[in-house]
Amino acid sequence: MTYPAIIELPFSRENAVSPHDSDEDKYPESFPRFFIEHFTKEKDKVFDPFMGHGTTAFVAEELGRIPYGIEADPERHEWAAGQCENWQNMRCGDAGDIADMGFPKMDFCVTSPPFMAVNHAWNPLYCGNKIYAGYDRYLNRMAEIFAAVKPVMKKGAHIIVHVDNIQGKTAYTPLVRDFSILISESFKPAGDTIIQWQNAPEDYPLTHALIFKNS
Ligand SMILES: C[S@@+](CC[C@H](N)C(=O)[O-])C[C@H]1O[C@@H](n2cnc3c(N)ncnc32)[C@H](O)[C@@H]1O
Repeated sequence: MTYPAIIELPFSRENAVSPHDSDEDKYPESFPRFFIEHFTKEKDKVFDPFMGHGTTAFVAEELGRIPYGIEADPERHEWAAGQCENWQNMRCGDAGDIADMGFPKMDFCVTSPPFMAVNHAWNPLYCGNKIYAGYDRYLNRMAEIFAAVKPVMKKGAHIIVHVDNIQGKTAYTPLVRDFSILISESFKPAGDTIIQWQNAPEDYPLTHALIFKNS
């Protein structure tokens, strides 16, 4: 299996999000489409533990794969599941609770977790609950979530994680480095593909896909 070092993909958000939501954290369909086509075959089970607006699920259905997903935000979950033929495979809840969700073993995972800047307190994995404020708690919880996902993945399955470093005004957040470290606690690192966006927004020329294998 080869893992491309650099690819070019179109930056285009093809599917609309809920009229009550913003699409700023939605990844372009080209991202999951490239990796699903590269790593899976028809009828394979494709999983996204941070389903968001449902992009992974819609692309998986378009390609004849079976989507499964988790989304913590009830309104997002309801909207995304409502657009899917396989709506019964979409759970509303915390991805860390995956063991209780009755999922089958998955062939593949592609996901875009919520990002957090190192100097922020609001932890997106706990909807900003102040008890869990801070970047260290965010990284620890993210590690726990990927550890919880591991038993659901088939042996040899690939896990693709979309991640960006964050260049803030006062601090730089090396999320690519930190995600590489924390996900490697559960999965074997296999590659890091840089995606150069075609028709990219001026401030967003590229992104990263970290590639892991469940060995
Ligand atoms: C970056 S968005 C995913 C966007 C998605 N790839 C798309 O294109 O629509 C991350 C999502 O993770 C959800 N989320 C945050 N914490 C979560 C958790 N603990 N378990 C499951 N989902 C969570 C957020 O509500 C958000 O919708």
